[in-house]
Amino acid sequence: MKKNFIALIALMVVCGADIAVAANTEFNVIDINGQQITLEAGHPSLQHWLLPAEIPQPENNKMSAERVALGEKIFFDPRLSVSGQTSCASCHAPERGWADGFPGSMRLMGERMARNSPSLVNVAFNSLYAWDGKNPSLEDQALGSQSMTGSLQAGSKEQGITDANLGVERIRKLAGYQDAFAKAYSGETVSKETIAKAIASFERSLVSRDTPFDRWLRGDAAAMTPPQVNGFRVFLDPTKGNCATCHSAPNFSDNGFHNIGLKQWGEPNADVGRFKLKAVAAMKGAFRTPPLREVGHSAPYFHDGSAARLQDVVDHYVRGGDVRSNLSPNLKPLSLTDQERADLVSFMQALSTPYVPYDFPRLPR
Ligand code: HEC
Ligand code: HEC
Repeated sequence: MKKNFIALIALMVVCGADIAVAANTEFNVIDINGQQITLEAGHPSLQHWLLPAEIPQPENNKMSAERVALGEKIFFDPRLSVSGQTSCASCHAPERGWADGFPGSMRLMGERMARNSPSLVNVAFNSLYAWDGKNPSLEDQALGSQSMTGSLQAGSKEQGITDANLGVERIRKLAGYQDAFAKAYSGETVSKETIAKAIASFERSLVSRDTPFDRWLRGDAAAMTPPQVNGFRVFLDPTKGNCATCHSAPNFSDNGFHNIGLKQWGEPNADVGRFKLKAVAAMKGAFRTPPLREVGHSAPYFHDGSAARLQDVVDHYVRGGDVRSNLSPNLKPLSLTDQERADLVSFMQALSTPYVPYDFPRLPR
C-alpha cells in the first residue's frame, strides 16, 4: 500500500491532469488472501459474485412452468394446514421479503416460535435448509421429515398440523388441483411427496439476480452510489468488515455454520443450533450464514430476530459480538468509521430491489 502510494505521488508529478483517474484506480484494488479484486463496475475480478445462470434443481424434480405454478398455489393455500388458516405465506410473505416480520416466527395456534422465519429469496442456491441445516433439500424441508419446519407431516408446529393427512386430503379432493397435478406431475399420484415437490419447485423460482449490485457487477457504473461501492469495499476487505469471509460469492453465503456471539447464546437453555445435528464443539450456538440478496425487506434479523434494522446488525459486528464463548475466530471487534458503517448499510440496501406488489395466485376449487 505504501509503495503504491509513493508510486502514485510520482505519477501525479509526472502526469498532472491524470491524477484523479490514477488515484481512483489505485484505491480500487484490494487484496483478499492474495487475490486482487478491482472495485469497478463490470470488472472481471468480480464476476464470481453473479449467480450462475442455471437454478440448481434435483434430477427427480426438474422445474417446469406447470410445477412452479402449482407449487405457488399450494404455497399460498391455507387449506393445506389442519386449521385451514395458515399457509406457508403466513410466515414467508412476499411483501416481507418472504419472511414474516416477527422476531420469533408467529404461529396462529399457540406461542411464538423460537426462531425467526428466514427469507426464501435465492433459497435454491443454499445447500442445507433451516437455521441449523437440518434439512438436506427443499423437498425434505417441505415434508418436514426430520423436523417441524414447514412440515406437511404430523406434529408440525408451524402449520399446526396434528393430522398431516387432513390438509393433504383437502388438496387432493379439489378438481382444480387434480388437473394441475396431472399436468405438472403426470404419472405421479397426488401425495404429500408430490405436494412437497411442487412447493420446492416454486421456492426455487424465487430468484433475485437483478439488484443494483448485480447491475453494477454487469457493468452499469450508475447502478450503485459511491457510498454503496465503498460499502462493498468494507464488506470485502478482511481488515475492515471481513463480511465476505462468511457471506461469500455468489449467494452471500458459505453455506457454513458459525457462532456470531448473539446475546441469546448467553442465556440459559440457549438454542444450540447446528450442534444438535453435529456434535462438534465449534458448532455450539452456530447457525447457517444467511444469503443477503433482498435482505432490506426481511427485518428483523438473525435466527432469533434480535436485530431490528441493518444498522443494528452492523453495530453487532462492530462490537465483535456480545457473548464471546465459542465465538467464530472470524469475528473480531471492527474498527470502522461512522462513514464506513453507514456505507456498509447502504451497500446492503443495494442488494434489494423495490417491492413490486405480488400477483397472488387464484386458488383452485
Ligand atoms: C408459523 C410460521 C411458518 C410457517 C407457517 C411456515 N414456515 Fe417455513 N420457516 C419458519 C421458521 C421459523 C423457519 C426456520 C426454522 C428453523 O430454522 O428451525 C422456517 C424455515 C423454512 C425454510 C428453510 C429456508 C432456508 O433457507 O433454510 C423453508 C424452505 C421454509 N421454511 C418453507 C416453508 C414452506 C414450504 C411452508 C409451508 C408448507 C412453511 N415454510 C411454513 C416459519 C414458518
Ligand atoms: C464468521 C462468519 C460471519 C461473518 C464474518 C459475518 N457474518 Fe453475517 N452472519 C453470519 C451468520 C452465521 C449469521 C446468522 C447468525 C445467527 O442468526 O445466529 C449472519 C447473519 C447476518 C445478517 C442477518 C441476515 C438475516 O437474514 O437474518 C446480516 C445482515 C449479516 N450477517 C451481515 C453481515 C455483515 C455486514 C458482516 C460484516 C460486517 C457480516 N455479516 C460478517 C456469519 C458471518
